[in-house]
Amino acid sequence: MPLKIAVVVGSLRAGSFNRQLAGALVRLPVASGHAFTFADIGALPLYNQDDDADQPQPAKALKTLVSGSDGVLFVTPEYNRSMPGVLKNALDHGSRPYGTSCWAGKPAGVIGTSQGKAATALAQQHLRNVLAYLDMPTLGQPEAFVQWSDGLLTGEGAVVEGSAKFLNGWMEAFLKLVEAHSG
Ligand code: FNR
Repeated sequence: MPLKIAVVVGSLRAGSFNRQLAGALVRLPVASGHAFTFADIGALPLYNQDDDADQPQPAKALKTLVSGSDGVLFVTPEYNRSMPGVLKNALDHGSRPYGTSCWAGKPAGVIGTSQGKAATALAQQHLRNVLAYLDMPTLGQPEAFVQWSDGLLTGEGAVVEGSAKFLNGWMEAFLKLVEAHSG
């Protein structure tokens, strides 16, 4: 069954490694036939509860995208051993006003890359805490801690052969989780 997946990248940097990784993930063989749409979280203002009665347009757009998706793929860097503020900001926007969260019940996958050996392990763990509260069933295994290197992707932006099998397996497990939760 073709699935609709919202992709949320936790970096706004033009040359973001995580955005490059996300672009490669959606091109993996197992992703073929599914529809991936990247959320524009860079357009979101800082969350302000005063605006709940009339949410800013980018927040409405995020909520429409996620609500119309079967699952959410989070691809995020680690900032100071946690998730970047821009990602938390997006989660907060999507969760409000109270009772109208776009995240509730949406299956999620969590992955990310950085140059460090521990990669984004701690950011992912913090993100998992929030996703649990937001009632998002999240892929537990396999975990994916991707250490970035210039050789990870080909010149065309695909995952190189040595990593493709593992990442394709990770994506397959994520898509199976999404399918299991799709009516
Ligand atoms: C970082 N970086 C980083 N890396 C890491 O592995 N653990 C960390 O805790 C941090 N902390 C951190 C804080 C801040 C404010 C910045 C700007 C960077 C390095 C980070 O992994 C690197 O900049 C990546 O390139 C960020 O991901 P994108 O933007 O390339 O996707």
